[in-house]
Amino acid sequence: MNIGILGLGTVGGGVVNVLAKNQAEIERRTGLQIQITRAAVRDSSQSRICPTDGILLTQDAMQIVNDANIDVVLELMGGTDLSKKLVETALKNGKHVVSANKALIATHGNELLALAKANGVHLLFEAAVAGGVPILKSLEQGLSANKIEMVAGIINGTGNFILTQMRDKGKDFNDVLQEAQDLGYAEADPTFDVEGIDAAHKLAILASMAFGCQLNFAKISTEGISKISNEDTAFATELGYSIKHLGIAKNIDGQVQMRVHPTLIPKSQLLANVDGVMNAVLVKGNAVGSTLYYGAGAGAEATASAVIADLVDIAKGTASLDILGWKTLGVFPNQHKDEIESVFYLRLLAADTAGVLADITAILASKNISVEAVVQKQIDAQNNAHIAIITNFVKTGTINAAIADIQNKDFIQEPVKMIYVETLD
Ligand code: NAP
Ligand code: HSE
Repeated sequence: MNIGILGLGTVGGGVVNVLAKNQAEIERRTGLQIQITRAAVRDSSQSRICPTDGILLTQDAMQIVNDANIDVVLELMGGTDLSKKLVETALKNGKHVVSANKALIATHGNELLALAKANGVHLLFEAAVAGGVPILKSLEQGLSANKIEMVAGIINGTGNFILTQMRDKGKDFNDVLQEAQDLGYAEADPTFDVEGIDAAHKLAILASMAFGCQLNFAKISTEGISKISNEDTAFATELGYSIKHLGIAKNIDGQVQMRVHPTLIPKSQLLANVDGVMNAVLVKGNAVGSTLYYGAGAGAEATASAVIADLVDIAKGTASLDILGWKTLGVFPNQHKDEIESVFYLRLLAADTAGVLADITAILASKNISVEAVVQKQIDAQNNAHIAIITNFVKTGTINAAIADIQNKDFIQEPVKMIYVETLD
């Protein structure tokens, strides 16, 4: 089987190295010799993390997707413009495509999958979600007896790495981001990692796979990790929670809810203890109950493991042409953000005057929101009270209305911070 790779960076280099390292195992499993014959790069004079002997390098990626001797194209380049044209051309030329590019799949996957199907070839993308964790194959195969009710996961390695290093080593946000970039974890544009866009791309794919609905990235409500402060982390710890950046998709009576945001999770939950570059996805099926999938969410060889697993499926003939469940694919309505019910964490900075707490709780009570826990730090040098509140289960629209009323009070010194709290039951 002749392979052409588009991109020989972190993931492409990892694929070359893992294929060389595990050649005998892979040949035993597939009965085929898988060889990388061509690779496209932007700059062929650059040094690589893998040997390139025997691989013909080109700076013109179109040559590879038009090469009649190539059977499978690995799109490991990133972006959504040129990569889309290349994948379309490869599929039209009857080549199978394996991609690690969640941005491409989340934004153009519906049409690309239809094109693959029309041409009788595979478009697989296990590596696009949660790096080396075989979560898509688990959803498609191992959990196929279930109606999936929820997927919730830590699905951005860079973000989790940053939050962990800030919490455990007190490191500065930008220093840790640089470290993640040096380790090859971050996207070419790292705002995709820190602002939650990368996690939203992955959640779109997970939700589609889990619920059998079309990819709908545009409907995901997205918030990143850049506004989490050390004070939030400290309050969360004191209240018995960890702050994790989660992608959550739920199917509530045929209405899909998709959101990506920082989340307080009880420390007793396994997900709360997933640290560093590790990812984990919790899947709740109506027969199996809750299951958890854990592993490296980014990095050269971990991601290569998922890319090569797709290649092996193609080589063995076990890959599905109907990966998202196209036979029955639905267009589910999306639940309006205001309707999403959750427990909430609020953090307030209030001037230390008599009756402040009573005023705040009166506003919450007026909207039928009860307080489950409250912590107040000692009054600071500016005579301000630092307060954290955990509410009961209410609608997002209701909590936002209460926050707006609280914000209007003269004693409030800065914007009220709101973070979702998930028990994941
Ligand atoms: P990367 O290290 O930046 O590698 C990108 C590769 O594509 C480079 O070799 C680059 O060439 C080549 N390239 C870019 N534009 C090109 C063009 N116009 N023509 C020819 N070659 C071009 O990126 P990466 O981290 O491997 O990520 C690749 C894809 O995998 C992305 O979609 C990413 O989201 C996804 N992914 C990454 C990880 C991870 O841990 N890094 C994990 C899962 C998925 P040069 O080397 O010459 O610049
Ligand atoms: N930038 C991504 C992450 C790569 O950090 O999770 C893996 O998809």
